[in-house]
Amino acid sequence: MIEIIDTSKSYEKGKKAVDRLNLKIGNSMIFGFLGPNGAGKTTTIKMITGIISADEGDIIVDGYSIKKEPLNAKMNFGYVPDNSDIVWRLKGLEYLNFIADIYRVSKEKRKERIEKYSELFDLKDNLNQYITTYSRGMKQKLMLIASLLNDPKNWILDEPIVGLDPIIAHALKTEMQQRAKDGGCVFFSTHILEIAEQLCDKIAIINKGCLLFEGTIEEVKEAKNQENSLEQLFLELVDG
Ligand SMILES: Nc1ncnc2c1ncn2[C@@H]1O[C@H](COP(=O)(O)OP(=O)(O)OP(=O)(O)O)[C@@H](O)[C@H]1O
Ligand SMILES: [Mg+2]
Repeated sequence: MIEIIDTSKSYEKGKKAVDRLNLKIGNSMIFGFLGPNGAGKTTTIKMITGIISADEGDIIVDGYSIKKEPLNAKMNFGYVPDNSDIVWRLKGLEYLNFIADIYRVSKEKRKERIEKYSELFDLKDNLNQYITTYSRGMKQKLMLIASLLNDPKNWILDEPIVGLDPIIAHALKTEMQQRAKDGGCVFFSTHILEIAEQLCDKIAIINKGCLLFEGTIEEVKEAKNQENSLEQLFLELVDG
């Protein structure tokens, strides 16, 4: 469970990238975070994960404030950034072991999870290669595997599907659904409205840092009563 409480962020004086955002992302659900380019999605996700700090408000991950108890909060989520441009001179497996060390994942558990997720995301045969030799998609797959090594209750993904081939995209969607089914909280940003419609239990739409809509996919469909209802709603709210 992730609670974003009255959270704001400005990079420059007088221009809010995120403006008093309130969102509660519950367990047992996939929550889609939508909005046009520059809306404030990545800024919000970076505040949840503690990469940048909020100017105002607080964010609580499973009861832990990212401001007051950052280590406890961080132990409770897995994070996939929008940019997988890691240039470390490590082999894939070395990177995964490094991440598992940080999260204090036992030898048995890390072996089991590395095996499971490198098979799921089809990176098993490349784990002994240097990351510098990876393609963009391979780096992204490595980040996905790394984000699951602590078996996080909360899984936060910033535009995870762009750049993945259809087979891996399908594996990712299935894993997101499974995690939500098992009681987890899956929060991801996307521009692909079809995927949001297909996957999400709830969505939020933001623009210019402000929340424009929050509701279930059923509510969107009922309100619009037509095919492509999410697209209609998005265009009306953001463009209208
Ligand atoms: N490091 C930064 N320094 C200054 N301004 C920034 C920085 N990062 C983001 N911004 C600004 O904050 C606003 C929100 O950006 P953000 O990256 O959160 O948008 P986004 O919703 O993730 O967009 P996209 O869909 O393009 O990924 C934009 O106006 C952007 O120019
Ligand atoms: Mg972004």
